[in-house]
Amino acid sequence: QPHKREAFGSRNVFILSAIGSAVGLGNIWRFPYVAYEGGGGAFLIPYLCALLTAGIPLLFFDYAIGHRFRGSAPLAFRRMHRAAEPLGWWQVLICVIISVYYAVIIAWAAMYTWFSAQLTWGPGNENDFFFGEFLQMGDVAGGISLEFVPQVGIPLLVVWVVTIVIMGFGVKRGIGAANTVLLPLLTVMFIVLVVQALFLPGAMDGLNAFFTPNWQALADPGVWASAYGHIFFSLSVAFGIMVTYSSYLKRKTDLTGSGLVVGFANSGFEILAGIGVFAALGFMAQAQSAQVSDVASAGIGLAFVAFPTIVSQAAGGPIIGVLFFGALTFAGLTSMISILEVIVAAIQDKLGWGRVRATLTVTIPLAVISMAFFSTTTALAVLDTTDAFINAFGIMAVALVAVIAVSWVLHKLPALQEHLNRRSSFRVGLIWKLLVGLLAPIVLGYLFISELITKISTPYEGYPDWFLSIFGWGMVISLVILAVVLSLIPWSGRSHAKDDP
Ligand code: PHE
Ligand code: NA
Repeated sequence: QPHKREAFGSRNVFILSAIGSAVGLGNIWRFPYVAYEGGGGAFLIPYLCALLTAGIPLLFFDYAIGHRFRGSAPLAFRRMHRAAEPLGWWQVLICVIISVYYAVIIAWAAMYTWFSAQLTWGPGNENDFFFGEFLQMGDVAGGISLEFVPQVGIPLLVVWVVTIVIMGFGVKRGIGAANTVLLPLLTVMFIVLVVQALFLPGAMDGLNAFFTPNWQALADPGVWASAYGHIFFSLSVAFGIMVTYSSYLKRKTDLTGSGLVVGFANSGFEILAGIGVFAALGFMAQAQSAQVSDVASAGIGLAFVAFPTIVSQAAGGPIIGVLFFGALTFAGLTSMISILEVIVAAIQDKLGWGRVRATLTVTIPLAVISMAFFSTTTALAVLDTTDAFINAFGIMAVALVAVIAVSWVLHKLPALQEHLNRRSSFRVGLIWKLLVGLLAPIVLGYLFISELITKISTPYEGYPDWFLSIFGWGMVISLVILAVVLSLIPWSGRSHAKDDP
């Protein structure tokens, strides 16, 4: 007997979970600096173009595939065409890689929620504390270290246990319930945080720096590329996530209406994060008599060095810190759940296993790998490299191949269009097909090639060749090979893989 396919309790729970997946670390710390570097206020133009011409159309594309073919990514692609199954496994494997390091950042954020409450780092010592005392960072030149760093390893174990328990409860009682609690909580914390940041002295200078448009940036193709690149990441399209989640929706569902809510909610969070983060940076600049541009650092440093500095210096800093890192932790957890669900659902479908067995078989080895690699002194270099390579040659590459295969080789866009329009409030037409079948391949192709040129011509971050060939190139290439191998394994009879539902 095939297992009955799980389902979300209602469309609203699906929407909450899809927003929970989309709103993640990318909104809170990635968007503010991408926007700032891309021309501040003027960046909103390429950003909105990317959202409307690529983000939302591809979100509809993912929804249509998952909902029409009712399966995890490998099953949905296989039902579309036998030969398309590796595309689904490629997405699953990308999620495997992301899950092992995404968990680590959540663990850091959780520890920093705790540290913020008591300023554990010692004011003035934020940088050394993060890289030195906390991460115990070492140099990769001497090889990969397996030296265990307990203050990272223990919270990491807790993150894995929490997510494994949520996953074990299934789509409705686990994933749906967790998002129903965490997303509203996260939203409230975030709004309180932003309002509080706006009252810091110097906040307006930060906002001026953020919103003052640099129109020249619009003439730079790199700025447009970064807007499109960010949108793909931020909406979690082409990860298999939206395919998997929409396969749990009831037959009669307004797909495009849900997609619009998810797309705009995610962007709302980003703009709010930009305001909050820059208000805080404005405060920091004023406190140090510096320019906002001097204190606006990128990436990990912004969250784990600049923010703690603000927490040390601002009145009510510990509250700001708890809200910021708490929000980061919850936003990360809801995204982490969605990443793991791609993998668990694929194993359930392929092997015909039940929820608990599939969850434990998938997540325990991942937790072990994650702890072995990322609670060590070389964690940061591995994390940074894997992230850069998987974004460029995983997510973007699979999205490129998927849109080309589905539109040009398999000619499925008309069928997907019809499926979207069957129940939806917002109808899609020729423009949607052109955006997905033509504009998306052009933009993704451009991004892919320019990334390829950069990464080949200069060794990423100057890391040694042996290191980049394992954790960069080797990793992304083996995913493709493994995806093909996995698609050759036979399906369990219980998954009815050949039926077109
Ligand atoms: N979309 C998420 C964000 O903006 C990132 C994410 C990546 C979510 C991978 C799920 C999976 O942070
Ligand atoms: Na996002």
